[in-house]
Amino acid sequence: MVLERGTREHIENRPRAGVIEHRAVQMLARHGLADRLLREADRHGACEFRVDGRAHEVDYSSLYDGQTHYVYPQQEVVKDLVGAYTAAGGDIRFGVTDVAVHGVDTPCPSLTWTSADGRAQRLECSFIAGADGFHGVTRRSIPAGAVQEFSHQHGIEWLSILAEAPPSTHKVIYALHPDGFAGHMLRSPTVSRYYLQVPVGESVDAWPDERVWAELRKRLALRDSDWSLTEGRIVEKRILDMRSHVVEPMNHGRLYLLGDAAHIITPVGAKGMNLALHDAEVLAAALTAHHRSGDDSGLRSYSDVCLRRVWRAQEFSQWMVFMIHRSPEPFLSRLGQARLEHLIASRSSAGYFAQNYVGP
Ligand code: PHB
Repeated sequence: MVLERGTREHIENRPRAGVIEHRAVQMLARHGLADRLLREADRHGACEFRVDGRAHEVDYSSLYDGQTHYVYPQQEVVKDLVGAYTAAGGDIRFGVTDVAVHGVDTPCPSLTWTSADGRAQRLECSFIAGADGFHGVTRRSIPAGAVQEFSHQHGIEWLSILAEAPPSTHKVIYALHPDGFAGHMLRSPTVSRYYLQVPVGESVDAWPDERVWAELRKRLALRDSDWSLTEGRIVEKRILDMRSHVVEPMNHGRLYLLGDAAHIITPVGAKGMNLALHDAEVLAAALTAHHRSGDDSGLRSYSDVCLRRVWRAQEFSQWMVFMIHRSPEPFLSRLGQARLEHLIASRSSAGYFAQNYVGP
């Protein structure tokens, strides 16, 4: 049974991430969950770094076995998964409140909640999958001291913008500008996502639409080029603070944490949704083996298997964060610049980038 706080309408329309890695698509396809994705998603194998008004393309797909990203908004993945699960007779309770976890240490944990129509409910569980995000109740239900938490604030904030504007590019753009990073990301033929680095502690109120577009035009500008930015109606503005958080181990008793409930990663490198899909894949296989044959080895190794990938992604995301932002410390700033110059100039550095960006 799935307990969901939002309404179906809400979760199927809430814009979040938009980039899925090759292997996550293959995993969904193996489970018969990628039909629409494979029909509709754009595939991307190159990105662009803009520095000093010049564009440098990195064709990461050709450097990594032809693997590509798929541009498919997260809410479309949610629609496909909810649709397939309900069509197969799966039980999802939308609009629940007051969810509480009991007895995670015992062989018989349980959940209580209030249903959308206001009734108190209780369910005894064999296992609980805590996929309720960073602020959810499941991680907080683990007794103090039973898990270790690793946290890092990167000291960087982005203004994240979603606009009803057709993309002005065919590939993701990372622009480094003396006034801060700017990104142009892809969502659909009619909607685009942009990011602007803003001072820490900034409020969205300081960013009226005209200022957003002026800043994007300035930071994304190319010299000696007629490239221009297509504007549109801004439909979302949020501040994202770059932080990382990892919980070890990712399970306690019969509670298994997945996705943002277990780990937060910066948006740089577009790993968040992909890590969550990987956790789900590993846990699904472990639970299936447990129920089919009593084989618990997958449950025992769940946390180690997931954490290996989580830390790989954290290290790569940190590598990229350092490269595309200028540090207030001049020495570190020059190191970041050297890293990007090496990526642009060296095939082996580009190969490292490709392997981590579209893979592993
Ligand atoms: C995004 O599509 O939002 C995105 C893509 C690449 C990144 C970060 C974010 O590195």
